[in-house]
Amino acid sequence: MWPMNAESTAEQPLADRGSNRSQRPSSAEFLRFITSGWGGRPESTVTRGPAADATARRRSEISGRFPGERLVVPAGTFKVRSNDTDYRFRPHSAFAHLTGLGAEQEPDAVLVLHPVEDGSGDDGSGHEAVLYIRPLAGRDTEEFFSDSRYGEFWVGARPTLEEIETLTGVRTAHIDDLRDALAKDVGEDGVQLRIVPDVDEAIEAVVEDIRAAEQAGARDEVLAEALSELRLVKDAHEVEQMRRAVATTIEGFEKIVRALPDAIAHQRGERVIEGTFVGHARQEGNAVGYETIAAAGEHATTLHWIDNDGHVREGELVLVDAGVEIDSLYTADITRTLPVDGTFTEVQRRVYQAVLDAADAAFAAAVPGARFRDVHAAAMKVIAERLSEWGLLPVSAQESLLPENQHHRRWMVHGTSHHLGLDVHDCAQARAELYLDGVLEPGMVFTIEPGLYFKSDDLLVPQEYRGIGVRIEDDVLVTAHGNENLSAALPREPAAVEAWMKKLRNG
Ligand code: GLY
Ligand code: MN
Ligand code: MN
Repeated sequence: MWPMNAESTAEQPLADRGSNRSQRPSSAEFLRFITSGWGGRPESTVTRGPAADATARRRSEISGRFPGERLVVPAGTFKVRSNDTDYRFRPHSAFAHLTGLGAEQEPDAVLVLHPVEDGSGDDGSGHEAVLYIRPLAGRDTEEFFSDSRYGEFWVGARPTLEEIETLTGVRTAHIDDLRDALAKDVGEDGVQLRIVPDVDEAIEAVVEDIRAAEQAGARDEVLAEALSELRLVKDAHEVEQMRRAVATTIEGFEKIVRALPDAIAHQRGERVIEGTFVGHARQEGNAVGYETIAAAGEHATTLHWIDNDGHVREGELVLVDAGVEIDSLYTADITRTLPVDGTFTEVQRRVYQAVLDAADAAFAAAVPGARFRDVHAAAMKVIAERLSEWGLLPVSAQESLLPENQHHRRWMVHGTSHHLGLDVHDCAQARAELYLDGVLEPGMVFTIEPGLYFKSDDLLVPQEYRGIGVRIEDDVLVTAHGNENLSAALPREPAAVEAWMKKLRNG
């Protein structure tokens, strides 16, 4: 309900007007009544989390990089979707990586690595980790029933300090103690503060307020870079999470194949595919790791087609690029390009096979000791040669592959690989010498995803190729002697794709 009195509305700050529709009682009697008469809290069942040992090792490693400095790693806060509704909370990946906290844990929390006398910190490191959180509020508080963002009545009971401490193995403190803890011993010759930038504006403002501004931005970037590079090689716990994310994603692709008849029948069949996968991701994991691409026919030539509002027609291909982010926040990133009616045409198969051959060449190059950039180069050699055989290149394949030419890239403008993990484009702040020019090591996980995209108005390709887009994307683990295709259980050979689709549609 809106107030009748325009004059009083004009005097009311905008921020307060959202409550004008509320008829929540505010009497002392109501306050007394709603905050009383509740049973005791059940005994906590929280135990030490499966990532606690791995996260302790990761914190020790980062501690060694920044001796004597105070490191601030915020989880982040809510983001407004519109008006008074927020997006679902998802912690920043650096925070998740160092704490093991996952889906929706914990808005506004901040991990601080406090420098301590050498060797007396956690696990003999030079830092003691403390997690500052907003713990569960008592039922005698207004927050309990009236705060739609944090209140227990609205969003459920938050964990207590003790529960988070048990779960993570990290000492916890109340978020109200954060400011003083950050400011302790900071000064010209005292402790330096670094914060992961662009995660939580409010915490960044507190840090700015405490420290001298000069050089601070550059210092923060080095911390973000180090935390990104810390994820380049996955530990055993992370590899296990990646296997789970991939397995769940493959189940989602199976559901998509079963849903294809519904997609064909619906005028926005691409949304049927997207909805099927997103529903699966929410049932079995936290969410999708990125917006699902469901691109039928010509839409597949738009690399990040996420409108997903088109028809899905028999006789055409549909490119589906999708990944489930499981509850620990690790995501898969898989693409399959499927014949909508279950059978590739001759020309579709020809394009598909070229992309598959490029992927296989990339797999052969993805071995320990090789460079990350070699994987892309191997794929591009096949793509250029195949385009040359088809008569599409104005120069030879060899000439096209020269850095000063690159004609073949007209039909594959994206890269072949990116690191994968907590973020779909993981380790994005790593330095080029460790990423693109980096040497592959066992434990690295990245995608191999070549493609060919022939737009329908591309006058340089024969008519029969126009409107065809193909990408095949798998998730790869570098092993001691080669690599493992983590997504190998999802068929990729044309005949195997057809047989798999037939089985699912008949089953
Ligand atoms: N799905 C985004 C990518 O493949 O990088
Ligand atoms: Mn990818
Ligand atoms: Mn992808």
